[in-house]
Amino acid sequence: MSQENQMEKIVSLCKRRGFIFQSSEIYGGLGSVWDYGPLGVELKRNVKDAWWKATVHGRDDIVGLDAGILMHPNTWKASGHTENFSDILVDCRSCKKRFRKDHVGDKCPACGAKDFTEGRAFNLMMKTYLGAVEDENGLCFLRPETAQGIFVNFANVVDTTHKRLPFGIAQIGKSFRNEITPGNFVFRTREFEQMEIEYFTMPEEADAAYEAWIAERFRWYLELGIKKESLRLRPHAKDELAHYAKGCTDIEYLFPFGWSELEGIANRTDYDLKQHAKHSGKNLQYKDTVSGKEFYPFIIEPSGGVDRATLAFLADAYCEEQVNEATRVVLKLSKQLAPTKVAVLPLLKKNSELVTMAKRLKADLSKSFTTVYDDTASIGKLYRRQDEVGTFFCVTVDVDSLTDKMVTVRHRDTMKQDRISLEQIKEYLAQQFSTNNS
Ligand code: GAP
Repeated sequence: MSQENQMEKIVSLCKRRGFIFQSSEIYGGLGSVWDYGPLGVELKRNVKDAWWKATVHGRDDIVGLDAGILMHPNTWKASGHTENFSDILVDCRSCKKRFRKDHVGDKCPACGAKDFTEGRAFNLMMKTYLGAVEDENGLCFLRPETAQGIFVNFANVVDTTHKRLPFGIAQIGKSFRNEITPGNFVFRTREFEQMEIEYFTMPEEADAAYEAWIAERFRWYLELGIKKESLRLRPHAKDELAHYAKGCTDIEYLFPFGWSELEGIANRTDYDLKQHAKHSGKNLQYKDTVSGKEFYPFIIEPSGGVDRATLAFLADAYCEEQVNEATRVVLKLSKQLAPTKVAVLPLLKKNSELVTMAKRLKADLSKSFTTVYDDTASIGKLYRRQDEVGTFFCVTVDVDSLTDKMVTVRHRDTMKQDRISLEQIKEYLAQQFSTNNS
């Protein structure tokens, strides 16, 4: 399967099976905004839950936060976004198309002409106005990153949790950027979700924390099933670094369109807290309770995109297998990420006793696992449907089940079938989910 072909197949599967739809499709669609359908919302939620579990609930040194999307406009002056968060744009004088200067060489990618306008800075922050009057006093921005909500709450978190260094604050939330060249499905969009950690350390411990976070975040993707050969680290060259950063390393994934950034881990030094202290007039230094010394901690920032991670998990899980001369499409998502864990399927939907038994089983399993019931096609078709969306187990209720009180459990990846008693099915599934990887 060619890489281009694979991307088309993933986009088509996402639409066909209710993972991801074009925004406002009935009106012709809104460019670069995507809606997550019934299965997509479950998958994306599982990605976020896995991240939260690994970074907040699984550790003693990180707490969570949920700051507003709208923030005081001075936030963006302090952070440098008002002045620096821009792309340089050029227009092709021949075909009138607009491009990011760093995305074109000397030739227009659309028409081949070599006649561009001078570059102009275009700020990527999206504007809105608070209140009834649209004037400068009400001007506000939709946040372009979740990070700043963490920095401005640094003192609140220290005062209320009494956390000592090193510790982190984690946040998941929407961010908005008026990207000039969005594309590649949910890879680069104008509305997206980020999952960011700001990890505060003693300045002299920052380098070690930076290395530890690179390893930790790389491990997270592997643990959730991404193939090792599809992931790599790319340290930034000195001239690529933001003015405040001492170091930055991207975790890249081999998307169907090539190696691209999945997440960045940066050493932001003490720049952010110093900037917010300067612009707010508040003391944002950390006071060491033992030495009594006050200083600005350094910050290590692992910053990932929920939508990009979701796309990577989908692309990595997509498989086509030949089974009895037919092609079986399977999403081999990890147990933690699969949107549906179990499907209960009655073999004969016309047999009311059998349907009742299957529905009762579904209701019972739903208390422990994300479970669906489906009787809208033949069993072969039902299996194929569940394989395509990554459902881990199909539990089939047949006529014999009525007398022997046993059901057939089919494993997604091996298609192996086990006959299990109704009494033991819950325990059997729980054990299957608790063993093996991810
Ligand atoms: N606070 C640092 C920060 O925002 P970034 O590299 O601009 O750094 C971090 O963004 C992550 O957010 C990226 O690695 C990517 O996963 C995600 N991201 C950024 N822009 C995006 C966009 N336009 N669409 C989807 N995801 C995006």
